[in-house]
Amino acid sequence: MLNEMMHRPIVMEKIVNYMRTAQLPFDGGVGELEAYANERGIPVVPHETAKFIDLFTATIQPNQILEVGTAIGFSASLMAQHLSSEGHLTTIDRYPDMYERAKANFDRLGLSDSITMIEGDAADVLPTLDGSYDLIFMDSAKAKYIEFLPECMRLLKMGGVLIIDDVFQAGTVLDDESEIPKRVRKIHRKLNELFETVLNSKRHRSCLVPLGDGLLMIRKESEEYFEAIEKE
Ligand SMILES: C[S@@+](CC[C@H](N)C(=O)[O-])C[C@H]1O[C@@H](n2cnc3c(N)ncnc32)[C@H](O)[C@@H]1O
Repeated sequence: MLNEMMHRPIVMEKIVNYMRTAQLPFDGGVGELEAYANERGIPVVPHETAKFIDLFTATIQPNQILEVGTAIGFSASLMAQHLSSEGHLTTIDRYPDMYERAKANFDRLGLSDSITMIEGDAADVLPTLDGSYDLIFMDSAKAKYIEFLPECMRLLKMGGVLIIDDVFQAGTVLDDESEIPKRVRKIHRKLNELFETVLNSKRHRSCLVPLGDGLLMIRKESEEYFEAIEKE
């Protein structure tokens, strides 16, 4: 379960170390959860990404948040702190052990009323959801991002933002496929498909952010999906 990409920085190592040490830890239970995860190598967003998500979520004060990939509930707890008073967060994980651990953490942090957990594969769960989310945070199986993208775009409200985590694979996503070990070729191909689809589009604003192993952020600006890519 270790996220090896977390230890293979995509920006200068001293900058990563600075972002992880100079930016204060989070207060209270959320900070304890982050420390617990990091001490045990449980794959949660690295501190620099968490700081960004914290500031971004505090700024937009979302009413509805959807997360794909709960793990033990660190990023969900972080975001849930900034829900508007009527707000709600829904988080999906397919791994029963993570579900139980996240549930215990949400109970302990007093967040159970504002968080709904769904146990299952996002491929099955996403098509069953309705609603219009202000923020979707996708942090699950990387090869599936391109498959989940249409559902996430459908579920976003106009002007809502999708944040996709870990898109650079320590920079190897930009290498030629022949240089990629066979066992991770599918992830490489699918992430490149994701980039082609999103970055070439004029329908939705998007931005790559080199935090952690890289974020891809997309703001929904049309009811239409990304335009088909015309290949020469
Ligand atoms: C990197 S961890 C999530 C970390 C969490 N967002 C945090 O920062 O606190 C990824 C999680 O996604 C879950 N996951 C991976 N693929 C999934 C899928 N297709 N459907 C649902 N959950 C999935 C895994 O079980 C794992 O717990």
